[in-house]
Amino acid sequence: MGKGWFLRWVFAVIGVMGWWGVEGLGVNWGTQATHQLRADTVVEMLKDNGIQKVKLFDADESCMMALSGSGIEVMVAIPNNQLSEMNDYDRAMQWVKKNVTSYNFRGGVNIKYVAVGNEPFLKSYNGSLMQVTFPALQNIQNALNEVGVGDYIKATVPLNADVYESPINNPAPSGGMFRPDISDLMIHIVQFLAKNNAPFTVNIYPFLSLYGNDNFPFHYAFFDGVANPINDNGVSYTNVFDANFDTLVSALQKVGYGDMPILVGEVGWPTDGDKNANVGNAFRFYNGLLPKLALNRGTPLRPKYIEVYLFGLIDEDAKSIAPGNFERHWGIFKYDGKPKFPMDLSGKGQNKSLVGAQNVYYLDPKWCMFNPDAQNLSKLADNINYACSLADCTALGYGSSCNNLDANGNASYAFNIYYQTQDQNDLACNFEGLARLTTSNISTPTCNFIVQINPSLSPSLRPSIVAFLSITLLPLILML
Ligand SMILES: *[C@@H]1O[C@H](CO)[C@@H](O)[C@H](O)[C@H]1NC(C)=O
Ligand SMILES: *[C@@H]1O[C@H](CO)[C@@H](O)[C@H](O)[C@H]1NC(C)=O
Ligand SMILES: *[C@@H]1O[C@H](CO)[C@@H](O)[C@H](O)[C@H]1NC(C)=O
Ligand SMILES: *[C@@H]1O[C@H](CO)[C@@H](O)[C@H](O)[C@H]1NC(C)=O
Ligand SMILES: *[C@@H]1O[C@H](CO)[C@@H](O)[C@H](O)[C@H]1NC(C)=O
Ligand SMILES: *[C@@H]1O[C@H](CO)[C@@H](O)[C@H](O)[C@H]1NC(C)=O
Repeated sequence: MGKGWFLRWVFAVIGVMGWWGVEGLGVNWGTQATHQLRADTVVEMLKDNGIQKVKLFDADESCMMALSGSGIEVMVAIPNNQLSEMNDYDRAMQWVKKNVTSYNFRGGVNIKYVAVGNEPFLKSYNGSLMQVTFPALQNIQNALNEVGVGDYIKATVPLNADVYESPINNPAPSGGMFRPDISDLMIHIVQFLAKNNAPFTVNIYPFLSLYGNDNFPFHYAFFDGVANPINDNGVSYTNVFDANFDTLVSALQKVGYGDMPILVGEVGWPTDGDKNANVGNAFRFYNGLLPKLALNRGTPLRPKYIEVYLFGLIDEDAKSIAPGNFERHWGIFKYDGKPKFPMDLSGKGQNKSLVGAQNVYYLDPKWCMFNPDAQNLSKLADNINYACSLADCTALGYGSSCNNLDANGNASYAFNIYYQTQDQNDLACNFEGLARLTTSNISTPTCNFIVQINPSLSPSLRPSIVAFLSITLLPLILML
């Protein structure tokens, strides 16, 4: 008891002083990378940057172990491909017991939400997840309620902003309504969330408003003002984030739940893989978003604190590029945990750098490059295609950081990224005699020829052992 008030006082003072940045700022921690930073390295990085909330895309054990004892609030998730299983209540209960309850003790994982699926109603899924999502949501929340944690752990469904829209005759935010083809389903989901005091979770992507729509007013994607704000019955909108958020508020109002809490499950800007995806635009986006969030002025229809999770934490070179080449470049950190551009999470707009990952080990400083002595180039294209089918060549595309390489540079980029992805295996730098090794850094000023990280080298195993012991032993100790 004695120390409790003192610690609360210290935390309150730190909070007031803003050391911990934008109130309750969260990040998405995705793990679809060929070479992942160690989970405890990532958690240390979150702490070093004062990030207090994290959203996962599954309930990966090593991430959960690393998060235990950190105090960081966690949204764990059930991936889309497990949703149909969760239509069986006993299976859902199993999931809850393994992936929530077993971590739910003092010094364990501070789980706040369970994300049921991820954007399951995206049009590209052709409705394949339409039947299974709502039953899964119900079963998971009911299981949480049954095991007695439902008061403080809420199930929610992170949805893409395409579940709502404004009709042609009122294209402003006030026209917002749920997409007609899923309107009934959305109403059921919203009613269920409301009954359980759970929030609506939506992912909002101003970048995607620009992508593939050259008529979209460019500056409206950012937060530094536009010449012609949208006037919605006297309410002025200067950025698409606010307009999109308020379109959802209007949609909720129309079905009788205008006060439902809304989390922004994902928002961010990619730095490569498209003509608009670059460090300059990402900096401009975050440099507007973070001060806006810090002010807690919300949007015109919700002028208060908004709970937001940035997307994403670290680049993921193994993500599907079905949405576009930019998909592997959403991180505020590079693949190796180095910050990409100045970012002030306190929202004060200072010229500050994020704290990068500590104790990261790399493979040797060696690169694979096009062999300039190669005589017969008839197989060159085949070999480049082979490399790029198994490694991430998205930086080579139109508008990307390595698009200005010459033909030899293109080949070198493809050969090197494949070689690094294969952990610098000597056999991975041959390409029918078209490639050779080099120890000189062949990067150009705009295009980084990376050296991969070496995840097998670890500074010490202690953090994970401590986490393991505390997870297995602590419940026993507490029971004594
Ligand atoms: C717990 O989560 C993991 C990781 O997402 C998943 O693979 C596993 O199936 C879940 N366990 C149960 C018992 O459902
Ligand atoms: C959706 O339909 C399109 C066209 O029929 C198809 O190419 C795509 O693979 C389908 N996607 C899913 C997730 O079923
Ligand atoms: C931000 O700081 C860095 C290094 O501290 C400096 O190189 C850069 O010029 C600064 N940028 C601005 C816009 O002040
Ligand atoms: C180049 O290699 C291809 C396939 O290995 C072969 O068919 C072709 O004759 C070679 N060309 C020369 C000029 O050696
Ligand atoms: C290099 O590759 C990119 C992407 O594949 C392509 O757009 C570009 O034209 C290539 N450059 C040369 C000189 O071949
Ligand atoms: C290679 O050079 C690039 C650009 O100068 C630099 O960013 C990168 O860190 C260097 N890589 C290594 C392994 O030294």
